[in-house]
Amino acid sequence: SPAAGQIKFENVTFGFPGAEKPVIADASFVAEPGKTTAIIGSTGAGKTVLLNLMLRLYDPQEGSITIDGAPVDALTRAQLARTVSLVPQRPYLFGGTIASNLRFGRTDANDAELWEALRVAQGEDFVREKELGLEEPVSQGGTNVSGGQRQRLSIARALVAKPLVYLFDDSFSALDVATDARLRAALPDATEGATTIIVAQRVSTITEADQILVMEGGEIVGRGTHDELLATNEVYQEIVRS
Ligand code: GTP
Ligand code: MG
Repeated sequence: SPAAGQIKFENVTFGFPGAEKPVIADASFVAEPGKTTAIIGSTGAGKTVLLNLMLRLYDPQEGSITIDGAPVDALTRAQLARTVSLVPQRPYLFGGTIASNLRFGRTDANDAELWEALRVAQGEDFVREKELGLEEPVSQGGTNVSGGQRQRLSIARALVAKPLVYLFDDSFSALDVATDARLRAALPDATEGATTIIVAQRVSTITEADQILVMEGGEIVGRGTHDELLATNEVYQEIVRS
């Protein structure tokens, strides 16, 4: 069957070398193409590590992670990078221009595609205001753009790459509520058919998700839709109340 981007975790356990407790304990879930899977949980719950495992920044001690049935450790890092785009919790820009940063995942993207990604990522206005537009220089680390602008450029970069799988690690909580809402309204069309996994802090960001995973202390302690979890899951109820 053609590549679709289904992600499957089966009984995945991972701990950092030397640590006594695993950071991810016996995690199992499936993230389906065309659907949005959200991950929520307190700080240190293991959300970032879970996403990083998909990109093989580290490999689990137990269990398996597959994409469309193929173990991720059978893919080269270049294959993985073409399949999965991660918007990291702390976005990184390298020295170059706005355009070169946006083309990081797909060097043959044309300017129209860059503008379209910026429109979705709510970054179009600030790039248009730059004297050189897409060709505006960016310093290493992106120190000449604000944190919020870095975040939007990082989201736009992932959209330009057109991967099968999008991983957004807490990419929306630094945006004001109105921008977050506009971005999420534009995202479904831009990512149509892809597997989308969103780590979020605000419940409002994920109420529409097809599936929400609740993480606590490295374990998935709840799964369901917003309404299902609200009715049944104490950890989720606590997050909603806080
Ligand atoms: P927030 O981003 O703060 O919401 O937390 P998170 O849910 O993303 O937690 P994360 O996955 O980053 O971390 C899970 C656990 O792994 C925490 O106890 C971290 O202290 C620990 N951890 C994360 N990175 C490392 C690392 O590089 N080395 C070690 N030894 N521990 C780490
Ligand atoms: Mg994190």
